[in-house]
Amino acid sequence: MTTTPTPRIVVALDGPASSGKSSVGAAAAARLGLRFVDTGIFYRALTALALREGVAPDDGVALAPMAARVALGDDGSGVLSRVLLDGRDATDELRSDAVDAAVSTVARIPEVRAALLQRQRDLTAGGGIIVAGRDIGTVVLPDAGLKLFLDASVEERANRRIAQRGLDPQGEEAALVREQLGARDAQDRGREVAPLVAAADAVHVNSDGIGFDATVDQVVAAVTKAESSSVPAPESASAKAERSPRPERAERAEKPDRSDATGDEPGAKRNRKLEIAMRMDNHRTWLTTGFSFLCRCFARAVCSVQFEGLDNLPKDGPAIIAINHISSLDALVAGAWINEHIGDRRMHWLGKRSLFDIPVFGWMIAYGGVHPVDRGNADVEAYRLASRLLKAGFVLIVYPEGTRSPDGALQEAKDGVAMLAMGTGAPIVPVGVNDADLVWRKGRALPSPFPRRKVTVRFGKPFTVAEVLPKDVDRKSAKGLATRAIMGRIAALLDPRHRGIYADDAAAQDTPTA
Ligand code: DC
Repeated sequence: MTTTPTPRIVVALDGPASSGKSSVGAAAAARLGLRFVDTGIFYRALTALALREGVAPDDGVALAPMAARVALGDDGSGVLSRVLLDGRDATDELRSDAVDAAVSTVARIPEVRAALLQRQRDLTAGGGIIVAGRDIGTVVLPDAGLKLFLDASVEERANRRIAQRGLDPQGEEAALVREQLGARDAQDRGREVAPLVAAADAVHVNSDGIGFDATVDQVVAAVTKAESSSVPAPESASAKAERSPRPERAERAEKPDRSDATGDEPGAKRNRKLEIAMRMDNHRTWLTTGFSFLCRCFARAVCSVQFEGLDNLPKDGPAIIAINHISSLDALVAGAWINEHIGDRRMHWLGKRSLFDIPVFGWMIAYGGVHPVDRGNADVEAYRLASRLLKAGFVLIVYPEGTRSPDGALQEAKDGVAMLAMGTGAPIVPVGVNDADLVWRKGRALPSPFPRRKVTVRFGKPFTVAEVLPKDVDRKSAKGLATRAIMGRIAALLDPRHRGIYADDAAAQDTPTA
């Protein structure tokens, strides 16, 4: 009988620029027989590619798909320090002044971070690796077997850099190094998305006043201790998916994702158990089925619901269900019926974290597939979460307009849904809800069942943004055009009074549910 060796530890190693993550991390990895990667090279590689192709370093829509063209290679000693762009070695380009100047702009973009998240997690397949970066312990690998935070004062780090470059410590160039390092610290710590911050459970190693070897000794000792207390190495969900003979099992096995842990509002911890329970599984349970049934009973009690095109809902694969928002009844009707038509899985939604604090209701929405978004950083957080759900192959329901319409007519939509569709390639299913506003008006606490009204919900044919955008559209215009394409398709599923500002776009569509 063959036995599978226990996978070795995965270590998250975070810290500010020039704290020695790369050199200390690689040396410790070599002594421990682990692999090593500094994830900064992903951001540098993407920056180098953007510079080559004249893409602006803040153009997330253009940059996110380019992440797929970056590959990392082993230098022969277990250090993943070689970078291939479109299959060609580009390692030498990563440390140029131009890349140095633009990389923190690229690293700030949520779409870029979302596109690189899974790539970084995939590197941990099989365990036995030290992964260095800024957000590894907090966002990329929240379940790492050990989290280390390597720090040193800005003076000490600047002095090391000055000595490395052989500069005169009193000279102008040295002064510039000190200034630039201070600025990079501020950028890394102050950025909105995945800021540099030590994970709450990180072991801190401060290298002020101790030499390189002594710092490596401390890292080696911490890893040895963590490994001997037999913390199993986490394995990324996609690594599991690759090994799994049954894709649906892989989906079921996805780990609870706690990358939002850094932005908790007070009281959020109370709901942690619920969130984890909800995130672990994409399959329908008796609870989801039961809630859907109750919602159907309620909806039928207050109106007569009629569906067209329900077969357009995909039974597998990711999908963005984009729906107009005219009443509280929309969500209820959607929740009641969509779950039953997307195969053996359930829908996912995004909701304010504070909703989870409402007794009973919080519990219900957690099991109804709602994912909490922190208010402070809502757009970025929502984008990241939504894109993660879609990349995992889940079905996500979204309201492109953001809020309920005051008069039942379509309002101007935000670009978020288009960006999500462009960033993930997920198909969009447009949905038009008609007359729900007559049953449950905005501002009313309860629906009015009398006079009895008909609510018609139409599901359009799924489409991808790539199918509807003109071939040579410039990247900046793509967002706006994609938003109009999505809203036009929703409008085409609505009666004229609901079409609002997208009436003209609706006219361009024909037989939308067929
Ligand atoms: O560590 P470095 O200088 O090679 O990193 C390059 C850039 O990438 C820098 O702006 C920080 C950023 N980065 C990040 O945001 N998250 C990581 N996990 C790694 C690096």
